[in-house]
Amino acid sequence: VVDIRPALPVEIDAVLAVWADADAEPTVTDDRRGVEALLHHDPEALLVAEDERRVVGTVVVGWDGWRGAFYRLAVLPPWRHQGIATRLVREGERRLRDRGARRIAAIAVTSHGQAVGFWRAAGYEAQEDRTRLVKVLDA
Ligand SMILES: CC(C)(COP(=O)(O)OP(=O)(O)OC[C@H]1O[C@@H](n2cnc3c(N)ncnc32)[C@H](O)[C@@H]1OP(=O)(O)O)[C@@H](O)C(=O)NCCC(=O)NCCS
Repeated sequence: VVDIRPALPVEIDAVLAVWADADAEPTVTDDRRGVEALLHHDPEALLVAEDERRVVGTVVVGWDGWRGAFYRLAVLPPWRHQGIATRLVREGERRLRDRGARRIAAIAVTSHGQAVGFWRAAGYEAQEDRTRLVKVLDA
């Protein structure tokens, strides 16, 4: 049975390994420092799917008081197509709703048909008339 629950601080390396093995597009915050800062800010912001003590899926559930946001949705290849990502997203939605969120954004790499298809199937619409703008701050 796969359990969905907040990640523990001791699981940070396991979470980073899932991102590497799941082919999640790498970002500058994919390191111990990034995940430690996330858990320090909000210990419940990282959900994991656990199968017999192994972390097999993840999602970051962000809440800033205005909007909800999902990042780093990833499931290890051998565990795909069992509904694990769907359960991670539903649990994240439930937690965001409880905290007062009314609108949630998810970011998917446009060329990853699999990711975009997943989000559409989960009820998320692509906003073709918006552009995402980002800036990486100097260290
Ligand atoms: C995308 C990803 C998280 C899905 O994980 P998963 O646990 O296999 O997903 P689920 O089993 O919950 O849901 C899959 C369902 O989503 C829908 N779906 C998935 N891909 C789809 C696609 N390309 N087109 C349409 N629907 C799709 C289907 O309903 C599918 O059900 P099925 O498996 O019975 O066909 C996983 O493939 C992954 O980790 N990919 C690499 C990382 C990534 O792209 N992450 C998302 C970036 S934000």
